Amino acid sequence: MDISYPTMGLTSCIIWFLYASVCGSWPLSDSEPVMYGEVQSPQYPQPYPPNLQEQWDLSVPEGYQIQLTFTHLDIEASAGCYYDSLTVLYNDKLLGKFCGNKDSADGHHPGNQPILSPGNKLTLIFQSDENNPERHQNVGFSVHYQAIDMDECSAPQSGVGSGPLCSQICLNTLGSYLCSCHHGYELRSDQRTCVLSCGGGIFDEPEGHLFSPGYPNAPPHAVSCQYIISVESGLTVSLNFTDNFHIESVDTQDGPNCFHHWLQVTVADREPVKLCGGKSPGLIATNSNTVKLDYHLDDQGLSKGWSLDYSTQRVKCPLPDNVAKGKVTPKLDEYFFRDYISVRCDQGYKLMMEGQEIESFSAMCLSNGQWHLPLPECHIIDCGKPEALLNGGVTFLSGFKNQYRSVVQYHCNEPFYSLLGGANVSFTCEADRKWRSINNVITSPTCIPVCGRPTKHISAYQRIIGGNEAPEDTIPWQVLLNEGGQRGGGFVIADRWIMTAAHVVKHPGGHEGNENLKIYMGLTDVTTLNSPLRVSSIHVHPDYNNLQGTDYNNDIALIKLQDSITFSSSVMPVCLPAEGAAYDTGTLGTVSGFGVTKVGSTQKITNKLQYVRLPVVDQEICRNSINSAKISRDGVPDLTSNMFCAGIPDGTKDSCQGDSGGPFTFSENGRFWVAGIVSWGIECGLSETYGVYTKVSNYLDWINKIMQEN
Ligand SMILES: *[C@@H]1O[C@H](CO)[C@@H](O)[C@H](O)[C@H]1NC(C)=O
Ligand SMILES: *[C@@H]1O[C@H](CO)[C@@H](O)[C@H](O)[C@H]1NC(C)=O
Repeated sequence: MDISYPTMGLTSCIIWFLYASVCGSWPLSDSEPVMYGEVQSPQYPQPYPPNLQEQWDLSVPEGYQIQLTFTHLDIEASAGCYYDSLTVLYNDKLLGKFCGNKDSADGHHPGNQPILSPGNKLTLIFQSDENNPERHQNVGFSVHYQAIDMDECSAPQSGVGSGPLCSQICLNTLGSYLCSCHHGYELRSDQRTCVLSCGGGIFDEPEGHLFSPGYPNAPPHAVSCQYIISVESGLTVSLNFTDNFHIESVDTQDGPNCFHHWLQVTVADREPVKLCGGKSPGLIATNSNTVKLDYHLDDQGLSKGWSLDYSTQRVKCPLPDNVAKGKVTPKLDEYFFRDYISVRCDQGYKLMMEGQEIESFSAMCLSNGQWHLPLPECHIIDCGKPEALLNGGVTFLSGFKNQYRSVVQYHCNEPFYSLLGGANVSFTCEADRKWRSINNVITSPTCIPVCGRPTKHISAYQRIIGGNEAPEDTIPWQVLLNEGGQRGGGFVIADRWIMTAAHVVKHPGGHEGNENLKIYMGLTDVTTLNSPLRVSSIHVHPDYNNLQGTDYNNDIALIKLQDSITFSSSVMPVCLPAEGAAYDTGTLGTVSGFGVTKVGSTQKITNKLQYVRLPVVDQEICRNSINSAKISRDGVPDLTSNMFCAGIPDGTKDSCQGDSGGPFTFSENGRFWVAGIVSWGIECGLSETYGVYTKVSNYLDWINKIMQEN
């Protein structure tokens, strides 16, 4: 039997329906149904009395028959059981009239054969006349009855015009029966007769089996059946006809024609196709998810029919193109409805769609066989302009337009700056769109100022008092301070920091941070003053306490500038002393300033930067000199360990007023570092007196702390 799923479903449904109606049509009687019993003549087994007329109406449930089995029958025998008798009736139909006994010649004995009623009722009537011959003491009868399942199916036709119980298949059941139909037919609502089944309707499973009514037998004429296969969108239906195909065709000049019989296949948006003939169409791919089949036979001719299996395939989408510098995944031979693809770009490339960058891309194959999005493109990434470097620059080494794998090199404006971490640092544009140095060692390039290396050197050294003018660019850290016409010196130690003597910015009883303080740098001639630099803050050493002008201990101060200085050959910082730097007696240092150049009655402030070279003086010699001076003078300050002295005994060279705050530098291997700050002296250029300087190396911690905290 070749029953595919949808048809089977339909059949079982009918059986269920039929069964339910059977139960509903013949309800059982209210009283307990009697399934068996016994009937005996009155007074049995004593002889029965005369003049009897007794009736028993037996019944068992519908759908059963009553079977009578006599255990004994002994009734006065007479021809035709005329006098005494037991009559068995079904409705008004006589089933038997009994009398006599087993051995009597007269009468009518039922014998050993049971009696079966055609239905579930039976009537027994027992009668006797007034005359019961004494010698015949007949005892009457005893009979068992029981309900017997009626085999309605094998019963003869009941009643005129009712036809066979079932037109095709009869199934006997206990107390009833069911009708069923042959394959290809279905039961009518009368539950008895069968009609040819179109098996039509809607088929929405992804595969199934369809066949013409009665297939493989020829159906009766005039069939009109419709079948609709409708599966979800994104699937397409293929029809696979079996070889056994026959639909009557008419031969015309143009070949066979489906004039009277046909199977028409209709697919949306296409001309319907009529099939007929004796050759199976085989496989038909409809490329649609909905197919309508109309089977039409007129009342002439002969078509044996057809059967087919249908199956569904997922809609296919075109193979995606390759994406340059990217990858489409997954890579399949075919892509079907609901398949996804995604695109990733190679390292260093980014996804672009319609001119916009997108984070990720995936597209689905739609039910119409199209991808829901067009493929994106992969464009090379760029890192943007490399970070600009203050006091330096960046040059391209390789690559193009800051793109992936481009390499740039940072450099600082030499000789005033040098790159922190090495002479040259190259950065590469990496896939994360950041410029990164090799091994990511350097996160951000920095140019640090070069200190103490002027571009020009003084060839001959002379003195300030007894010194000489400094050529341009030879002491580029020199600063001129001017506060209310009072001159002082200072020097650059960093791009925002000036160092000077505390007494230059803090006068006895006065405040530091005077806004009148003007700072000039990059000059060697005061007559060509440029605009002064703005002061941000002034930091006098906290232990400087020179109320009477007689205590120069800790004579050091730092000035922070508002704006950072860009160094050049005319402005450059001087180096700070190294930790534990030596101040050996006799070592020559250079003092510079715009201070007093002549002594005596013709003291004169210089307009040109002066310098002089002086040796460090032994601290004891200096102390002795100061102590001698204290004998003849008042208010001579003490020499402390935060000071050192420099000068020559004959007093022809010295620093003087106006030079205060200026630098005393040592030169080592062409590099200048500041050893002292011009602090005080007993007059200027006197013999056996020396200039006193703040010993900068004693203040490194304080200097670093102030510079870090501000
Ligand atoms: C069509 O059905 C035949 C059997 O009737 C089977 O052999 C064949 O593989 C089927 N073709 C397809 C494409 O399913
Ligand atoms: C640094 O780079 C400059 C310019 O690219 C080059 O001339 C110089 O030789 C480099 N120096 C070192 C130490 O690599």
